Amino acid sequence: MDSIIVTGGNALNGTIPIAGAKNACLTLMPATLLSEEPLTLTNAPRLSDIKTMQLLLESLGSEVTALNDGKVLALSSGTITNHVADYDIVRKMRASILVLGPMLAREGHAVVSLPGGCAIGARPVDLHLKALEALGAELELRDGYVHATARSGLKGGRITFPMVSVGATENALMAATLARGTTVIENAACEPEITDLAHCLQRMGAQIEGEGTPTITIQGVDRLSGATHPVVTDRIELGTYMLAPAITGGEVTLEGGRLELVSAFAEKLDEAGIAVETVENGLKVSRRNGPARAVDVRTAPFPGFPTDLQAQMMALLCTADGVSVLEETIFENRFMHAPELIRMGAQIDVQGGVARVTGVERLRGAQVMATDLRASVSLILAGLAAEGETQVNRVYHLDRGYERVEEKLAACGAAIRRVAGE
Ligand code: UD1
Repeated sequence: MDSIIVTGGNALNGTIPIAGAKNACLTLMPATLLSEEPLTLTNAPRLSDIKTMQLLLESLGSEVTALNDGKVLALSSGTITNHVADYDIVRKMRASILVLGPMLAREGHAVVSLPGGCAIGARPVDLHLKALEALGAELELRDGYVHATARSGLKGGRITFPMVSVGATENALMAATLARGTTVIENAACEPEITDLAHCLQRMGAQIEGEGTPTITIQGVDRLSGATHPVVTDRIELGTYMLAPAITGGEVTLEGGRLELVSAFAEKLDEAGIAVETVENGLKVSRRNGPARAVDVRTAPFPGFPTDLQAQMMALLCTADGVSVLEETIFENRFMHAPELIRMGAQIDVQGGVARVTGVERLRGAQVMATDLRASVSLILAGLAAEGETQVNRVYHLDRGYERVEEKLAACGAAIRRVAGE
């Protein structure tokens, strides 16, 4: 398995291009199942999770062609030839559950394995299933698979989520586009990836109102057409690279970055003494005067501070001046990076969903282990500022969500390289 080796101490200066959003692309791709006509996604990120979704869709009979070095995905689902999303693919990636809603809506039946994914908590799919039941689906859980049927098609209904779920909102939204009548989704997720999905579905002919707000109304249509849609910018990749100069010092422009995608996060950076500025081609981030200041962070659904940036923010706060309190409210087991950061000399005390970080002057390089996608990159960020060499092992998680991380950071002056493992 590959490792990444970082030698800390270099200030970063330069430009980093931000790719299309992994999490948006992973919900846009299954939207192909809603229509017989082709769907083309531009600005797609080149990541192993995208390949996994491609394999899953191909196993169902879709054709997926990566063009322009993978930046364009041409998807076509003229006929769905297999209605079973197999455990062997689904276990690799939780987002696989997103084929359930569209396949059921178009075909009236679908069988999907219960997912695996990052080990960051229990992460059940009950909300996805309840939403589909509210649209008239009959569901049965057998042998680790969800068997879903809607013999005379899905019917519009009222879905009230007891808690905000990005994936369940996406599944419900896609399914409702082809359901008969009106569907109202209450307490819907407001993430930019949901808005992006709604915009793509609208281009395909879906009747959707209220995307980006907690109440989404969908008027079902008989069929959807093809479309071409650009994937929204990856706000998590953006936030991750905004933290690089914040940690090392220097000045980096994030090409394609927009403040409205990361406003709660940018406010925290500002509080920590990091300058964030909108420039012509994106966002510019710099830290010139001394270490960052400690700040308290509480993760929350959008527009709150994203859970997917909590690990990376912790890497910054490890060397900030003072004591920071990070509260994780979305996932119950999402501090697995803390013990690894402690190996690098950080002072972190985790009690349940709260981590207290006492800033130290310097981290020291160490051998550390990547435990999930965002944790992996937080260790790389920590390594950029640490004294000596940090070796991050098991980086396959990283490749699921970050395109060419070592190239992007090296282009700004980081001493970083990938070492191939056996
Ligand atoms: C998506 C993102 C992930 C991000 C998360 C929260 C994708 C591919 N992944 O994951 O990167 O960290 O949003 O912003 O877009 N829950 C239930 N029952 C369900 C579904 C969810 O209890 O049926 C719980 C989860 O365990 C979690 C919370 O709801 O505690 C939020 O999860 P959710 O928003 O669904 O996350 P994902 O869509 O899986």
